[in-house]
Amino acid sequence: MAINAGIQQGRSRRDREWSRFAGIRQCNNIEDFRSMARRRLPGPIFHYIDGAADDEVSYRRNTEAYERCDLVPNVLAGVESIDTSITVMGQKLAMPLFCSPTALQRLFHHDGERAVARAAEKFGTMFGISSLGTISIEDIGSTISTPKLFQLYFHKDRGLTNSMIERCIAAKFDVLALTVDTITGGNRERDLQTGFTSPPRFTIDSLLSFATHPVWAANYFTHKKFELPQLKDYVKEGSNISVSVGDYFSTMLDQSMNWQDAADVRKKWGKQFCLKGIMSVADAKRAADIGATGIMVSNHGGRQLDGSRSPFDQLAEIVDAVGDRIDVICDGGIARGTHVLKALSLGAKACSGGRLYLYALAAAGQAGVERALGNLRAEIERDMKMMGCRTVDQLSRDNLKFR
Ligand SMILES: Cc1cc2nc3c(=O)[nH]c(=O)nc-3n(C[C@H](O)[C@H](O)[C@H](O)COP(=O)(O)O)c2cc1C
Repeated sequence: MAINAGIQQGRSRRDREWSRFAGIRQCNNIEDFRSMARRRLPGPIFHYIDGAADDEVSYRRNTEAYERCDLVPNVLAGVESIDTSITVMGQKLAMPLFCSPTALQRLFHHDGERAVARAAEKFGTMFGISSLGTISIEDIGSTISTPKLFQLYFHKDRGLTNSMIERCIAAKFDVLALTVDTITGGNRERDLQTGFTSPPRFTIDSLLSFATHPVWAANYFTHKKFELPQLKDYVKEGSNISVSVGDYFSTMLDQSMNWQDAADVRKKWGKQFCLKGIMSVADAKRAADIGATGIMVSNHGGRQLDGSRSPFDQLAEIVDAVGDRIDVICDGGIARGTHVLKALSLGAKACSGGRLYLYALAAAGQAGVERALGNLRAEIERDMKMMGCRTVDQLSRDNLKFR
């Protein structure tokens, strides 16, 4: 019975064995998963997830920013049953945190996006898939029935951009997020040092790293060939030539992208539309003006412009300016349930994150992501009770004090 249930959910015997071996019950927080991912992944792949731009200052600040203010709880609030659900960009989610879109997931675990999507579905939250996803739009559309976001890159090849939008409409995706902070590639020095490319290029150094991670290597080489199904019909060489993500941003994306292009994408899409990577108040207002229904306040997890402000530090100003016109999402740096509560107290409608589930995916596939989301959900529930809040909208700036 249990085996059948596992197979129905698409998890193979090997996956179950892997998760048992992985000892993910010992993983109580994101740092635990990060350590496990570091052990499991070849160096170049771990550092692709873990790294950021230049000196990685923004990356560190994204989390540190949450530590510069304190929660002020209320008590005696009758919190035996609480409701952590929220509605963001028209999607009802069971928890106020969702999975940001991230590239290349089958490099991290052979089930890739399918594992993350299924875990997100179990927790009633939204799953975001990247233009650089390794599972197709159609596959994800038929795998889960919970809210789905597609992250769009704006390519020079308009046929490619339009084909992604049309495929998302056909696969009944709910939200389109246009990423606006990758106008050129960030300077990710760890990737330069390791020579990371997608798919992996086999140099002497990288072969050594793969040889010392035989479980990863066996899974990579015995599962379906790596590809980028959103791109492959439009890239002359197919999507199996090794390129760095920086090269992709700099050569395939359209640096002339402007507000009119964003408005045109919104119009073509016609449903819930979000700009991902908004940081200034002026841009937040323009996003509302072109009819976006959400913005992800984000510096791409510190992977693009190092030295840019953290999303949490920038949140209050943006909420004050446009919070009554558009859903504001705080993206990045989240490592604890209390971080989510702090962002919601400032007026974010929801939070989102990438590495918070990616380390867990690398550690143990779907079971890992479920454990990571489960830990965060338990923290959010526990923290809401200790804050004296029965519903998310009871959190307010009265609950927060900056030092
Ligand atoms: C390995 C990795 C790959 C990513 N790929 C994409 C991508 O393809 N498209 C995109 O818009 N953002 C991408 N992001 C950024 C995430 O969507 C998100 O903004 C970021 O991870 C938030 O920071 P956090 O990792 O601290 O939560 C990526 C992030 C990581 C860590």
